[in-house]
Amino acid sequence: MREMIDGSIVIREEVQEDQARVFQLVKEAFIDEEYSDHKEQYLVERLRKSDGFIPELSLVAIFNSKIVGFVLLTKAAIKNEKRLHTTLVLAPVAVDKAFQNRGVGAALISFAHKKASLMGYGSIVIIGHKHYYPKFGYQKASKFGIHFPFEVPDENGFVIELKKDELLGIEGELVYPKEFFEA
Ligand SMILES: CC(C)(COP(=O)(O)OP(=O)(O)OC[C@H]1O[C@@H](n2cnc3c(N)ncnc32)[C@H](O)[C@@H]1OP(=O)(O)O)[C@@H](O)C(=O)NCCC(=O)NCCS
Repeated sequence: MREMIDGSIVIREEVQEDQARVFQLVKEAFIDEEYSDHKEQYLVERLRKSDGFIPELSLVAIFNSKIVGFVLLTKAAIKNEKRLHTTLVLAPVAVDKAFQNRGVGAALISFAHKKASLMGYGSIVIIGHKHYYPKFGYQKASKFGIHFPFEVPDENGFVIELKKDELLGIEGELVYPKEFFEA
């Protein structure tokens, strides 16, 4: 039986001194993931410099004084003929391999949802594991008529409404911050 540690985790905003540890943690967390390009650590570095970067939504999870998890939510938009609708993109979430499956990822995602909601954001989009995100309330992005600027399997593109009916009538294409893509 795995021992959950979510009750002992402290989640706080990332500070500059955390960045080297976060780089290493993200790199190592994705190392065995088949779908990964193994460059997520560089994505984080680019997103920190982007216009969409929200310091309050760059979060680290601490257990016994050690950073064991990281999540980043960046400002993005859903674009249709009428308008640009602000949303957030969750990418990446990563947990130190030695601490996976013990509730750290769930604690980070739940905390990020609450904080984003308190800051007034209404929705979050994510590309991710088909079994992991529905338990947090994510639904298929396709159900809302939201698509991605590149091919994403239907079962991996998700969105969550933090405010009821936030995405009602907001169909369109997700517009990532340009830093999401390598130069
Ligand atoms: C995915 C990740 C963030 C989850 O964090 P975590 O702290 O290990 O997960 P939690 O303890 O909160 O939740 C455990 C659950 O997640 C599931 N899970 C963990 N890793 C998973 C994976 N790679 N694919 C699908 N499900 C996964 C477990 O099966 C478990 O499910 P259960 O609660 O139904 O038993 C973490 O495993 C990780 O860093 N993975 C490598 C990087 C990555 O893939 N990031 C996500 C990009 S979409």
